[in-house]
Amino acid sequence: MKDILQELESRRGVARLGGGAHRIEAQHAKGKLTARERIELLLDEDSFEEFDMFKAHRCTEFGMEQTRPYGDGVITGWGTINGRVVYVFSQDFTVFGGSLSETHAEKICKIMDMAMQNGAPVVGINDSGGARIQEGVASLAGYAEVFQRNIMASGVIPQISVIMGPCAGGAVYSPAMTDFIFMVKDSSYMFVTGPDVVKTVTNEQVTAEELGGAVTHTRKSSVADAAFENDVEALAEVRRLVDFLPLNNREKPPARPFFDTPGREEMSLDTLIPENPNSPYDMKELIHKVADEGDFYEIQEDFAKNIITGFIRLEGQTVGVVANQPMVLAGCLDIDSSRKAARFVRFCDCFEIPILTFVDVPGFLPGTGQEFGGVIKHGAKLLFAFGEATVPKVTVITRKAYGGAYDVMSSKHIRGDFNYAWPTAEIAVMGAKGATEILYRSELGDPEKIAGRTADYEARFANPFVAAERGFIDEVIMPHSTRKRVSRAFASLRNKKMQNPWKKHDNIPL
Ligand code: HXC
Repeated sequence: MKDILQELESRRGVARLGGGAHRIEAQHAKGKLTARERIELLLDEDSFEEFDMFKAHRCTEFGMEQTRPYGDGVITGWGTINGRVVYVFSQDFTVFGGSLSETHAEKICKIMDMAMQNGAPVVGINDSGGARIQEGVASLAGYAEVFQRNIMASGVIPQISVIMGPCAGGAVYSPAMTDFIFMVKDSSYMFVTGPDVVKTVTNEQVTAEELGGAVTHTRKSSVADAAFENDVEALAEVRRLVDFLPLNNREKPPARPFFDTPGREEMSLDTLIPENPNSPYDMKELIHKVADEGDFYEIQEDFAKNIITGFIRLEGQTVGVVANQPMVLAGCLDIDSSRKAARFVRFCDCFEIPILTFVDVPGFLPGTGQEFGGVIKHGAKLLFAFGEATVPKVTVITRKAYGGAYDVMSSKHIRGDFNYAWPTAEIAVMGAKGATEILYRSELGDPEKIAGRTADYEARFANPFVAAERGFIDEVIMPHSTRKRVSRAFASLRNKKMQNPWKKHDNIPL
């Protein structure tokens, strides 16, 4: 009996060594942790329960039957993050370069199926040379099985991908279909075709880091949501993110104990808006001052900085924030910011996370670049996303809300539940100068007359009261009371129930 028990321990020891001590050393030498070390950091201490530790591949090509390491290049199972269940897979680069075989895919699919059945998020840690070359089409089939599960799980359970090594070719499409992608600087990359193929086909010379590194994907392509210095930091941030999210689409987001006063007044907000309407100010200051304990978890911080997206808590409850940033492009909406915010709004709506919108938007960015790039369709994504969302929606207009962008930014007309404005709000078709230049074109030669017309327009339209008279703004509020007003609004909406008409699915302008 003792021998049998010992045999289990010794087999476990072999499995835990993955591709062997020298490959583990090589992994560490690259500044990377091993698949198991990553799981340990991700999950609560001693909470990991492994599946399929002894699973091995069935390939007999290229002498593969001689080498059948336990685990087959991926560690799978479940554990907890601050006591809440998550499923996890972590590719083991020390075993055949973490490449995906038929059996490796079966292991991932098993935990994805369990996560769906049991309503818990999946965190996928990617570090892989791609399709197991020796297995050919069986490996491609394995990828497709994972892809199909990513699609079915979308909107049902949160899916988070962490890229901690290579992720290339068709393999990128599994993370691409998950909700969030985190990358590690200098040790991870994602591309559909690598630098060598790029050189052959387009004659462009780029390094892997330039083509698909963490900085590229968080600043240029927006494929990834955040970039971190090392594995440890990235995994700690996944834990922080998971704390904001519900476990599945049937559950409300978690309510955490909070140590902040819901009615906290911030007198400094009364002077946040500069005297000059064209001067910028930092919208993040407002977000931090409204959030419980000033805690803001920003998503896509380095991309389309003219819009801010992320999570805060109000009275301990997760709230998604979308806010124009006057510091960048004057807070205009454009292609990138519309896409970024639309995806965020849809994530929140999938998972019953209420949405708080702060508005200071002078309109859509003009230019051939924008029009040729399809700003009409991309802007429509954000309009569509806000309009279809049935979660509680509270909007605060701090300053400009001009033109179509006023409608888009979670206005009353697209089912905003509480639409507040600060006294500094200007809700109009356009700014006073532009408006008078169009309305009084014949008087343009007379600057004095035009100045008078502009002042008159400002007095009549550059305020929140015209909209408030019509009920498009529910209340004009004091900036210092924003946290209190917004918290109370969301508290009153906790039992909101709204359903869109039955449809197979919508046809959002993709
Ligand atoms: C089998 C693989 C492998 C793979 C790496 N290895 N990739 N084994 N299938 N795809 C093995 C290596 O043979 C090596 O084994 C070990 O993993 C480590 O690889 P190294 O090359 O020594 O590591 P490194 O120098 O860090 O380079 C990593 C790498 C490189 C850049 C990922 O290994 C590489 O280019 N691999 C091939 C990538 C590829 O072309 N994959 C298929 C892409 S197509 P030993 O025994 O020496 O330790 C694809 C399609 C997916 O993925 C389609 C989905 C629809």
